[in-house]
Amino acid sequence: MITINPHYQKLQDSYLFATISKRVDAFQKANPDREIIKLGIGDVTLPLPSACIDAFRQGVDEMADEKTFQGYGPYEGYLFLREKIAESDFAKRGARISADEVFVSDGAKSDSANIQEIFSNDVIVAIPDPVYPVYLDTNVMAGRTGAFEAGRYQRVVYLDSTKANGFVPEPPSSAVDLIYLCYPNNPTGATISKSQLRSWVDYAHQNKALILYDAAYVAFIRDPSLPQSIYEIEGADEVAIEFRSFSKTAGFTGTRCAYSIIPKVCRAFDQSGNRRSPHQLWERRLSTKFNGVSYPVQKAAAAVYSETGQKQIRELGDYYLRNAGLIRREMTALGFDCVGGDNSPYIWVNAKMDSWKLFDLLLSEAGVVCTPGAGFGACGEGYIRLSAFNSYQNVEKAMVRIKSAL
Ligand code: MLT
Repeated sequence: MITINPHYQKLQDSYLFATISKRVDAFQKANPDREIIKLGIGDVTLPLPSACIDAFRQGVDEMADEKTFQGYGPYEGYLFLREKIAESDFAKRGARISADEVFVSDGAKSDSANIQEIFSNDVIVAIPDPVYPVYLDTNVMAGRTGAFEAGRYQRVVYLDSTKANGFVPEPPSSAVDLIYLCYPNNPTGATISKSQLRSWVDYAHQNKALILYDAAYVAFIRDPSLPQSIYEIEGADEVAIEFRSFSKTAGFTGTRCAYSIIPKVCRAFDQSGNRRSPHQLWERRLSTKFNGVSYPVQKAAAAVYSETGQKQIRELGDYYLRNAGLIRREMTALGFDCVGGDNSPYIWVNAKMDSWKLFDLLLSEAGVVCTPGAGFGACGEGYIRLSAFNSYQNVEKAMVRIKSAL
């Protein structure tokens, strides 16, 4: 008899953005004449920068010529891309990361979902609440979370991110093994200071823990005092893995390219307490399960680091941040308490009511899609997330509609 993975039965509902998409589709079907503005899922709307498109085309042309054709690429990504990443995203900011510590992939979603596989099933996982649902759900699927009772998984240590702690939780008082952090944060848009991040790195050293640091939204940081990488903190290379993505940075949500950093000195332990290398384990996993990102896509990603590419991605980020600023100003003027939107494309809005209720109200009365905070965890109840990923014209229109609906 073929039996299913019993842990899948502990998952709640469907994946958050799939649920929202179904609700929006049903509304559109029932109201075919209504024009809907989507400020829900963080999906970019502007095209790829021309520097990336030119390199993408060149990569395709090379695939059409026997002399330059590429078959399987390196599992960890082409060196031409990894060298640029190490130099521009890390060395220039004083973080010592080398090209052979970079693993190119098809997305920060898959990397942050898959990484837990290399750790033992009995580790204690600390997960922020609210949180990008992938971190929690993949640990549920792996059987690490225990049963879901009274709204929470019993073996998970939740890191409540609330107004009281400025949406940046402190390290827990108990010992945990695997810690998920994401800054600029999805969904709250909050950022972390260097000293706050240092307290997490210290905690990981003291507790032999490991931090999974999701920096997918780093391109929106404009405050020069904020850390862009966890490796800007001394000693983080031993205790942290970092995820980055070209999705929001350069419009690659549909093109797919991202990377993870696993320093060679990063450590985990075997059952006898001996040091083991997550770098080696991830390399082993990758070569078994993955055949790399396509050559033209990696060419396109490498173009992000050209002078023109850097200028163009800065303009992309500025465009969405202008939207974010408008959303935050308008929602604040309507009497809502907001976080984020300054160094982040997300604005976390205190809904002053049940979060699904405000979701329904905005959809039916304004034709605007947001993400209900409750979908990100218990601490998200009473909040909604508005995303700045849309055209400025649509954001302006959405704000006018929200104003008249409320
Ligand atoms: C989000 O809206 O939270 C993100 O777009 C989801 C993702 O990046 O997978």
